[in-house]
Amino acid sequence: MTVQETSANGDSAGQQTATDKQPQSNRAHVIVIGNEKGGSGKSTTAMHLIVSLMKMGFKVGSLDIDARQGTLTRYVENRTAFNEKKRLKLPVPDHRPIYRSELPDANEAKLDERERFTTALGEMVLSCNFVVMDCPGSDNYLSRLAHACADTLITPINDSFIDLDMLARIDPDSLAIKGPSIYAEMVWDARKRR
Ligand SMILES: Nc1ncnc2c1ncn2[C@@H]1O[C@H](COP(=O)(O)OP(=O)(O)O)[C@@H](O)[C@H]1O
Ligand SMILES: [Mg+2]
Repeated sequence: MTVQETSANGDSAGQQTATDKQPQSNRAHVIVIGNEKGGSGKSTTAMHLIVSLMKMGFKVGSLDIDARQGTLTRYVENRTAFNEKKRLKLPVPDHRPIYRSELPDANEAKLDERERFTTALGEMVLSCNFVVMDCPGSDNYLSRLAHACADTLITPINDSFIDLDMLARIDPDSLAIKGPSIYAEMVWDARKRR
């Protein structure tokens, strides 16, 4: 798993664990879980991270950017149902799925997605200590918006060269990094826009 911290001006603050850095201001710290490789553990990492932060006493908001698959949304729904069934008070995050737009026009669809994303995130950064976003295993506009807002980006990978190839092009003989992958370029582009 790789963790990348980004300061407000876009500079890298180096490799840190998420819990090394706690919110310094009233604005929530935004943690994005992303990797264009499906099945790498993004939603699972998001679940554990959200519950850990809540158990530490932080107020957590969560955005499901992979709302069509809805793994994180289902987890929160099941946790809420479990609370009701067992009459428990397990903490649950302020959770919202952000669905892709169904508008036929591409530009209108982007505006629609941006509006719903920024409204939800804007409310959460003021009411929560952390916002955790679970991204899809593919490139789309919502995922790019999410990556551009990351204070911390966590990229889970499996112990496999197939997964490593999603982060960088590696020379098979020397294991030297030959260049960024398409996902790494997307992250770099999102950080420049930020
Ligand atoms: N750390 C882990 N160790 C073993 N299996 C894991 C781990 N994290 C996730 N998994 C399993 O891998 C599969 C994909 O995980 P998931 O979180 O849905 O990935 P993604 O959201 O990246 O598509 C699931 O079956 C999940 O239980
Ligand atoms: Mg997932």
